[in-house]
Amino acid sequence: MEKLTYVDAYRRATENPDVFWAERASALTWDRRWTRVLDTSNAPFYRWFSGGRINTCYNALDRHVEQGRGGNLALIYDSPVTGVALRFTYEELLNQVASFAGALRKLGVERGDRVIIYMPMVPEAVVAMLACARIAAVHSVVFGGFAAPELAKRIDDAKPVVVISASCGIEGQRVVPYKPLVDEALKLAHHVVRHCIVLQRPQATAALLPGRDLDWSEALIGAQRAPCITVEATDPLYILYTSGTTGKPKGVVRDHGGHAVALAWSMSAIYDVHQGDVFWAASDVGWVVGHSYIVYGPLLAGCASVLYEGKPVGTPDAGAFWRMVAEHRVNALFTAPTALRAIKKEDPGGGLINKYDISSLRALFLAGERCDPDTVHWAQEKLNVPVIDHWWQTETGWPVAANCRGLTPLPIKAGSASVPVPGYDVRVLGDAGTPVGAGTIGNLVIRLPLPPGTLATLWENDEGYRDNYLTRYEGYYLTGDAGFIDTDGYVWIMSRIDDVINVAGHRLSTGAIEEVLAGHPAVAEGAVIGAADALKGQLPVGLVILKAGATISPAQLRAELIDRVRQQIGPIASFRHVAIVTRLPKTRSGKVLRSTMRAIADARSFNVPPTIDDPGTLEEVTGAFKNLGYATPAGS
Ligand code: COA
Ligand code: AMP
Repeated sequence: MEKLTYVDAYRRATENPDVFWAERASALTWDRRWTRVLDTSNAPFYRWFSGGRINTCYNALDRHVEQGRGGNLALIYDSPVTGVALRFTYEELLNQVASFAGALRKLGVERGDRVIIYMPMVPEAVVAMLACARIAAVHSVVFGGFAAPELAKRIDDAKPVVVISASCGIEGQRVVPYKPLVDEALKLAHHVVRHCIVLQRPQATAALLPGRDLDWSEALIGAQRAPCITVEATDPLYILYTSGTTGKPKGVVRDHGGHAVALAWSMSAIYDVHQGDVFWAASDVGWVVGHSYIVYGPLLAGCASVLYEGKPVGTPDAGAFWRMVAEHRVNALFTAPTALRAIKKEDPGGGLINKYDISSLRALFLAGERCDPDTVHWAQEKLNVPVIDHWWQTETGWPVAANCRGLTPLPIKAGSASVPVPGYDVRVLGDAGTPVGAGTIGNLVIRLPLPPGTLATLWENDEGYRDNYLTRYEGYYLTGDAGFIDTDGYVWIMSRIDDVINVAGHRLSTGAIEEVLAGHPAVAEGAVIGAADALKGQLPVGLVILKAGATISPAQLRAELIDRVRQQIGPIASFRHVAIVTRLPKTRSGKVLRSTMRAIADARSFNVPPTIDDPGTLEEVTGAFKNLGYATPAGS
């Protein structure tokens, strides 16, 4: 395929998306060519490559083996927490996937059935995802840091026939048993799952329920290798739940065809990595970054993908990432700014970087949260490679704005995610829906249709898709982020416009945490905001009002609330700060003034909202935040 400049690619994708995306699609193997590239027949539910038939697993594995690349490295597993490192060629990974797909078939998993995967960062998680794709089952991976009730919500929504899990995950030095969480989730869920496949790890053995539960290796006994099942390009490949503003997670649906086309192209156009290169997304398969850039993107492009079961610090030290780069000759690394901040905090001088030969590294990519310019500059100086911040969401599945290294590398502006990626028409609208000028903050929206690879809808909830994303400004997808575009066309993401917060690159709903707080028998009402945190970007902070007559001591209540959030949402919420107040700042119509609370917690100046019911509440809230260590200018 001809190499395009950024300007050319952007123009072509905008002016003639049918031709542009058809050309990109030709890089893949199709079982039947599409009849329409962009199908507008059911707008605003746009579909890509209608009429086409494809299999994503075939394109990620079999295609490479059939074309003689079976001996190339496909997956590198490195687990400092267990001391295990494994390498799989394309042929080896294909063998494992085909066999496990056969095991799923043997258990009666049919095309379109859902399979939930709740696993730590082990190769079997990747095998399970690809096996589902192979037999046209729809996988839904749930991040291991979520507690049983969150898993149960996803089980009830996706209604899987099988849940695949492991006996445990390993968090630094700590063994976290997973199976008891699965058992509890299956008890809490109304939906009944037929089978549960459990990978037994040596660090902890899980008890299996006869009849329902099977050991991973037992499931493989007598299983025939399953062939790829061809599917409509528009059929669902996976559901990935993400946080919205309420406690009910949103099931983002990704299709087969458009997804494969967009991801395969993004590997060369955005990341400038190609067949044979080593790509490492230091994320988790439970997040969208893991789906797109640990599993599908690198394999579709014929790269070797790195699966890392460890942390940026503590496994064993802040040099862990650089050891990985050196040992596996990583060409491009993708991580969250939080991880870099954690490394920088422990190794500000970069001494541990100098211990390793990281000359293979060509670029570092950051996403998941806003990256402060200091961290970008630090990484650039210490690593001596371009540090590329890029912006995307679970919903989009691949970057909306980036400095496309494989098209035309552009100057880096620290703090900006660079320019819109070809296919995305990003605009900034004021609250009334009119475009604002360069440099003015407003709502970041994307003009419809969204490019291939983005969400098709929400799982069994077309109306929710429309209501959440498409109705605020007709003809546009609402990203939920606020920001601006500068005179050079660079996009700057500044904050969320809703109650979604971003904790260590993990997206959480303050509404979900509030529901948990309000569920405590002594709590009348609670409000949670995301307060700025130097390491994790944001941390949730809660304020609660006691029910009349509640006698619990404040210390006991705080401990119980913190534990409740951990048990009901998960440790990943990092909920540690909660205070008791007598009133919350509200408007006269009763709406909690969360943005005012956020400004107070972050010690930012703000105007007292004219709609406030009782300005006296601000004083009490300020005092409560101060007691928690907030509402004080940094450094004072
Ligand atoms: N299974 C079970 N528990 C998990 C988990 C998992 N998969 N992932 C995280 N947790 C737990 C952690 O053990 C921790 O528990 P604790 O409260 O008992 O300490 C809690 O959830 C919070 O985890 P985390 O946010 O990861 O904090 P941390 O203090 O362990 O580590 C960082 C701090 C900065 C090193 C870490 O947040 C990090 O690596 N962030 C990068 C995130 C990232 O890559 N995001 C990808 C999006 S692109
Ligand atoms: P998630 O769906 O979990 O990937 O979270 C998506 C959200 O993370 C976005 O809507 C943004 O709020 C935030 N985000 C992701 N990447 C960036 C970035 N590069 N800069 C600023 N915010 C980002």
